[in-house]
Amino acid sequence: MNDILPEEMPRWQRMEDTFRRITARYGYGEVRTPLVEPTSLFVRGVGEATDMVEKEMYSFVDKGDDALTLRPEGTASAVRAWIEHNVGAKHPVAKWIYLGPMYRRERPAKGRYRQFHQAGAEVYGDAGPFVDAEMIDMVVGYLRELGIAEIEVLVNSIGGPGTRPAYRAALLAYLEPHRSSLCPDCQRRLDTNPLRVLDCKVESDRAIARDAPSVLDHLDAADREHFDELRRTLDALGTPYRVDPRIVRGLDYYTRTIFEVVGRSAELGAQSTICGGGRYDGMIEQLGGPATPAIGFAIGLERLLLMTAGQPIEVPRTDVFVATVSPEMRGEAAKLAKELRAVDLVADADLRGQSLKSQLRRAGSENVRARYVIILGKDESARGVVQLKDYDAQSQSEVPRSEVVTLVRDRVKGRT
Ligand code: HAM
Repeated sequence: MNDILPEEMPRWQRMEDTFRRITARYGYGEVRTPLVEPTSLFVRGVGEATDMVEKEMYSFVDKGDDALTLRPEGTASAVRAWIEHNVGAKHPVAKWIYLGPMYRRERPAKGRYRQFHQAGAEVYGDAGPFVDAEMIDMVVGYLRELGIAEIEVLVNSIGGPGTRPAYRAALLAYLEPHRSSLCPDCQRRLDTNPLRVLDCKVESDRAIARDAPSVLDHLDAADREHFDELRRTLDALGTPYRVDPRIVRGLDYYTRTIFEVVGRSAELGAQSTICGGGRYDGMIEQLGGPATPAIGFAIGLERLLLMTAGQPIEVPRTDVFVATVSPEMRGEAAKLAKELRAVDLVADADLRGQSLKSQLRRAGSENVRARYVIILGKDESARGVVQLKDYDAQSQSEVPRSEVVTLVRDRVKGRT
């Protein structure tokens, strides 16, 4: 779990602000749900046989004997809120985004943490496939807006109830003879969710999975048409993508459309999934709500941050720093700084009573980088003037105290 310090924050804010701005153009509104939910929500929603529920959840019993879990993802929580607030009755289609920390007890690695942040979106009440394409296109647009070019969009369909039983049978018929060669996890997955064998990371399992029957050859007519229409719409939107029948996603709730965005960057190592999502048409009903189709995705912000690590970022500067020649002037300095802030300038002052030299050093330091410094002296104060230092122009002049606020404001605003 990481601390994020103020100097790293401009990058975080850029990712988050851009996400809010882009999704707002599509009509999404932001939802915030609690970080803790009943454990049963994730067991039922995400699926008992998933790695997430089996191995990764931070679950505990609270002092009132309630079984709770720090949310490992946002979809189950959002669905719980959607059902609880009866949103479907008011809005046939609802578009939600969320940003915030998620918790999974995974083996930490570069881009994989135990507290990490997601920016996610969910659409309720639209069975697709047009909205699926629009959503994938929105993710690509967001990543482009952040200047991330090295990405590949992978799409697949794992079908719905009309496809899955037959495909599961075909997959099992293929995998069963390989049972003893599979890793222990996959031997278990054969009994719980054989689809998951397809996305196992163990090399020998991947070799077996390569020749497994493709889900795309088993889609029933309705699922096939849904997927074909998705592809046609992505083509029409000009969204680059590749069909990859091997992606299955790690969570049990998916139906039909699934997608991932894979990024490449030196910082992230060879390749990494920065976004995962898909349709989950059965989950709302399964959690006790009215049968309602839904689709969503989540982007891992730490991974995105690694992808944008090479980009220059503007660290905000302090417009004016107020310094004093002698400590008695500190009250004056606080008052002047307040006046400067009142005209919407970023103003700071060193109020500790340090030497002028030390104050000026702070004004020029990396986390202040003042454009202007106003120096208050006792003699000058008696004459009604202050010293105004322009850091960039390396010049200094004497200006009336009564005019300095307006003067600096006009200069700063005129320049930026
Ligand atoms: P997910 O694939 O489990 O999907 O996670 C989405 C993204 O979160 C991943 O692609 C990755 O970038 C990031 N992520 C996951 N685990 C970690 C970790 N330990 N450290 C850093 N980043 C991580 C979901 O969570 C689904 N709820 C997405 C979704 C929304 N599906 C439908 N609606």
